[in-house]
Amino acid sequence: MSRLSMISVPRVWRGLVAAGLAVIAALVFGTSDDSYAQEKAAAAEPAAPSAEMVRFGHKLHQSKGVAVEDCQQCHGIKGFEIEPVTRGKNHQPCNTSGCHASEYMSREPKICVVCHDTNEPWVKQIARIRDLPTSEFGGEISHKTHQSDKAAKGGVKCQSCHGNVYVEGEKPEAHAVCGSCHQGGLRPLMSDCGDCHKLGYQAERLKNQSKYAVRARFRHDDHDRDPREKSRETPGCKLCHSGVENANTLSEIPRPTMQSCDACHDGVNAFKTTGFGCVKCHGVAKP
Ligand code: HEC
Ligand code: HEC
Ligand code: HEC
Ligand code: HEC
Ligand code: HEC
Ligand code: HEC
Ligand code: HEC
Ligand code: HEC
Repeated sequence: MSRLSMISVPRVWRGLVAAGLAVIAALVFGTSDDSYAQEKAAAAEPAAPSAEMVRFGHKLHQSKGVAVEDCQQCHGIKGFEIEPVTRGKNHQPCNTSGCHASEYMSREPKICVVCHDTNEPWVKQIARIRDLPTSEFGGEISHKTHQSDKAAKGGVKCQSCHGNVYVEGEKPEAHAVCGSCHQGGLRPLMSDCGDCHKLGYQAERLKNQSKYAVRARFRHDDHDRDPREKSRETPGCKLCHSGVENANTLSEIPRPTMQSCDACHDGVNAFKTTGFGCVKCHGVAKP
């Protein structure tokens, strides 16, 4: 480890403590009378960097010669759980000389918010892990493989990985699911990040979505009961998702067809596909 990196954090730390004391002072001594003046002053100041403004780019780093394929120089893994980037490495390799060493010594560092939600010194700096929807990655998986007898020996059902899709927000933690089989001897191991994650994959997967695609309007929780069944069971996944079991990649998964909707959207059990209800399925997202 370079000497630079050893002295860098405490320096910044002092800067942050000073800034924090100023904030406390403002909170303690500020009165509601001068809040207008404070607001005005705040408006004139440039905004503090936020996680939205400063974002780590894997592609960008690759273009600068960083060996991005070597995921674990930055990402650690414990069992199946992904650790915050650089945990236990004292900010290496980010603060290596020639990279961001000067940033770690700066009085106004910007890159901290990539991993820390806050710059406030009295709060423990917890590094967060970002959500995937706008990720540069995305996890690839072959549904065909996982329908095979070998994968399904214990009976991996759709719900084992997807949770109960008919209840909003009941999605299991992906790594915990995958790790239940792949953490042991089964390849890919959870440490073989690149076997499941592909750079640029998420954008590729989402690029051909039309504004009117049913994805924007369709909700599984509108479909938690099959109106045709007396027992009113939840419909089986394959009623709409036929062909999933043959897909080797996610992009090979066929989108549900309009014919599959006809089973219920016949004007009796639900509004029909041939009527005036087109926008109920093809409209833009519900407010
Ligand atoms: C040079 C350091 C570095 C390397 C190498 C690296 N990452 Fe990252 N990665 C980061 C940082 C920094 C973040 C943003 C902070 C966070 O989400 O914890 C991040 C975020 C992510 C995310 C969250 C969503 C996103 O895209 O922002 C995923 C997924 C990810 N990395 C996967 C990988 C995989 C897979 C590899 C190897 C193919 C890899 N990373 C290599 C530093 C790195
Ligand atoms: C690539 C991700 C990343 C970036 C960027 C980053 N940190 Fe960290 N930082 C961490 C991780 C991981 C830890 C270890 C704490 C933990 O395990 O959550 C940490 C710990 C710290 C700690 C010790 C906190 C404690 O309570 O032990 C300080 C102080 C700190 N960081 C300041 C900074 C500053 C200042 C910057 C910007 C110059 C910065 N960090 C940028 C990931 C990052
Ligand atoms: C071994 C785990 C696993 C099993 C079993 C599984 N899936 Fe998936 N499936 C995934 C993952 C991972 C993704 C990609 C991430 C996501 O969209 O949640 C995915 C994505 C999908 C998608 C979205 C494709 C896209 O283009 O967005 C559909 C539809 C789907 N699965 C249906 C099913 C159905 C139906 C079954 C049962 C026949 C099933 N899956 C079984 C893990 C699994
Ligand atoms: C019930 C156990 C089980 C679970 C859970 C599981 N897998 Fe697998 N996976 C397997 C088996 C078994 C194989 C090897 C199949 C073979 O070789 O025939 C495999 C193979 C793979 C492969 C290698 C390429 C391929 O398709 O052959 C990838 C990638 C993969 N799994 C991703 C995932 C992901 C991502 C998840 C979590 C969403 C996951 N797996 C969850 C059992 C599982
Ligand atoms: C067996 C396949 C597999 C392996 C190996 C794997 N991942 Fe994942 N990972 C996934 C899947 C699937 C998702 C969820 C994708 C989705 O929902 O679209 C995911 C999600 C993530 C996320 C987002 C987590 C969140 O809470 O938003 C990060 C970060 C991540 N992986 C990083 C890594 C890193 C780093 C490694 C290697 C140390 C790794 N993964 C190894 C399959 C895998
Ligand atoms: C009534 C029809 C229907 C049934 C039944 C159904 N789905 Fe879907 N599902 C859809 C439609 C429509 C979409 C949006 C697809 C698109 O436009 O790509 C979708 C999207 C998905 C997606 C990707 C988007 C997301 O929400 O993450 C997954 C994963 C998925 N379904 C899994 C399942 C599973 C697992 C089951 C069974 C438990 C199931 N679905 C049952 C119609 C259905
Ligand atoms: C198992 C029967 C069944 C199937 C198959 C089915 N639906 Fe439905 N759907 C219903 C029922 C029942 C309702 C709620 C009653 C109503 O609104 O007429 C509904 C409501 C909806 C709604 C909510 C409309 C709104 O604005 O409230 C949308 C969107 C929708 N379905 C889309 C689809 C799509 C797309 C498919 C085909 C991929 C599909 N459904 C397949 C039974 C079904
Ligand atoms: C119950 C939901 C539903 C209703 C109502 C509905 N559609 Fe669709 N429609 C779908 C689904 C599902 C698809 C196939 C997936 C996709 O393209 O997003 C589709 C696809 C289409 C396509 C593209 C066909 C193709 O092969 O690419 C057109 C055009 C279309 N619908 C027109 C209409 C018109 C016009 C109406 C009204 C008379 C209508 N739809 C009513 C669900 C519906």
